[in-house]
Amino acid sequence: MTFFSPPSRSVVVGVGSYLPSRIVTNEELATMVDTSDEWIAQRTGIKERHIAAPGETTSMLGERAARAALADAGLAPEDIDLVIVGTSTPDYTFPSTATQIQGALGIHHGVAFDLQAVCSGFVFALATADKFLRSGSHKRALVIGAETFSRIIDWTDRTTCVLFGDGAGAIVLEARESQGSMDERGVLTTHLRSDGRHRAKLHVDGGPSATQTVGHLRMEGKEVFRFAVGQVTDVVVDAFAATGYTAKDLQWFVPHQANRRIIDMSAAKLGIAPEKIVATVHLHGNTSAASIPLALSVAAADGRIKRGDLVMLEAVGGGFTWGSALIRW
Ligand code: ACO
Repeated sequence: MTFFSPPSRSVVVGVGSYLPSRIVTNEELATMVDTSDEWIAQRTGIKERHIAAPGETTSMLGERAARAALADAGLAPEDIDLVIVGTSTPDYTFPSTATQIQGALGIHHGVAFDLQAVCSGFVFALATADKFLRSGSHKRALVIGAETFSRIIDWTDRTTCVLFGDGAGAIVLEARESQGSMDERGVLTTHLRSDGRHRAKLHVDGGPSATQTVGHLRMEGKEVFRFAVGQVTDVVVDAFAATGYTAKDLQWFVPHQANRRIIDMSAAKLGIAPEKIVATVHLHGNTSAASIPLALSVAAADGRIKRGDLVMLEAVGGGFTWGSALIRW
């Protein structure tokens, strides 16, 4: 008699991304609100962002990223039995963006659902998919971060509109048998946190139940900055403690791409060398849940992230939510 033995590792087998074609530079923004390329670049590192075309929705961006990740993995949509989408800007209140993408890909089996953790959405979705796969209940997952933050930005508010952009990124995770060694490929550990006391510092002032509107993003920038650098690194420390690795063992640090200063200060605090940072925020601004898979996609495509590399992901978002994932690529 054979007993089912669950696979114990979920391995990244493909990565892809998609950015809308329309680029808005800092110079163009300066024609819309009282700002400048110099102010934005100095404070955030952002040079340009991509904005979805009218009618181009989050699920459309997510589908493009998912197809790119599947192509990278050499897999077809029917090979996927789990779709999790991190997003705070769904096409509609319901059905979920994940089921929209599942339908667009022609996947009619398995399960698809959204996960809402704002800018931490991708790390939360990755941790969730990892637990599904390691349990043995599902075989291959599409983990997608997709956003159209341009739709919830107050374009007259220069303190927020300069920071965000639209985009999507995706990875394919596959369940594999593992001996449990840290040298084997796959997600080694994930650590998630949240603290609802901080709602006011970063929130959207509308929603179906509260206002029956979509609302606009509101932020206390300095407070978010302080929290992101001061608190969030604890989940990276937790990942080191769980695995015995240290900052020196990492090949790459791929944090949420919100702001270059937050990225650099977090890395310095953690003792991660500057040359190990993957930063793409200058190219697309803060795309919330899409930012980490966008950065992964760029660094995998240009040959920086290679098979076997130790890669630390870290994110923070509204709520607050925050989390880390340590992956043997
Ligand atoms: N252009 C020009 N001037 C501006 C702009 C702008 N776009 N925005 C604000 N200013 C002005 C302010 O009005 C203020 O003027 P004043 O001194 O005359 O009052 C001055 O610039 C300084 O404003 P501060 O808010 O003090 O600027 P600060 O140095 O804190 O930088 C920033 C603001 C960039 C938002 C910073 O606080 C920050 O990076 N916070 C983190 C926010 C973030 O990244 N959020 C992303 C979402 S959260 C997440 O993803 C985790």
